Amino acid sequence: MDDREQRIAETRRIVDQYKTTQGALIPCLQHLQNTFGYLPAEALETASRELSIPLAEIYGVATFYAQFHLSPRGRHIIRICRGTACHVRGSATLLETLKETLHVEENGTTEDRRFTLEPVACLGACGLAPVITVDRKTYGRLGADDLPGILEQYP
Ligand code: FES
Repeated sequence: MDDREQRIAETRRIVDQYKTTQGALIPCLQHLQNTFGYLPAEALETASRELSIPLAEIYGVATFYAQFHLSPRGRHIIRICRGTACHVRGSATLLETLKETLHVEENGTTEDRRFTLEPVACLGACGLAPVITVDRKTYGRLGADDLPGILEQYP
């Protein structure tokens, strides 16, 4: 069985638990995402067939909620603040440095799946601008020189 077939088989097993429950699409998608780390296309197609819900409707739900991700994500999520206070204090330079260092685009994931880079609006720590978070940890008053030391803490 290749990866795709395995994901389809696993999806069938998961979706089976939700078949008889009304309004179970969101919990089902959460379960699938917890299992695969994101929502692979073949999982959504299988869920559509098994639950008899049109694929367009499933995509509608999966793209509406920020909690769902349609492509693989990194083990660590870097959020870089692009709010006004951070912008004024140089977050654009931080963003460019991260993109160059990690060889990713905005919202992209490194090839080794180590990091996903997400620019976001104000992270709510403007007094510390410019700010990034890695997973749940906040780093403030950053310069580009601080980034390598931070990244190496996340294998
Ligand atoms: S603008 Fe960056 S934390 Fe508020």
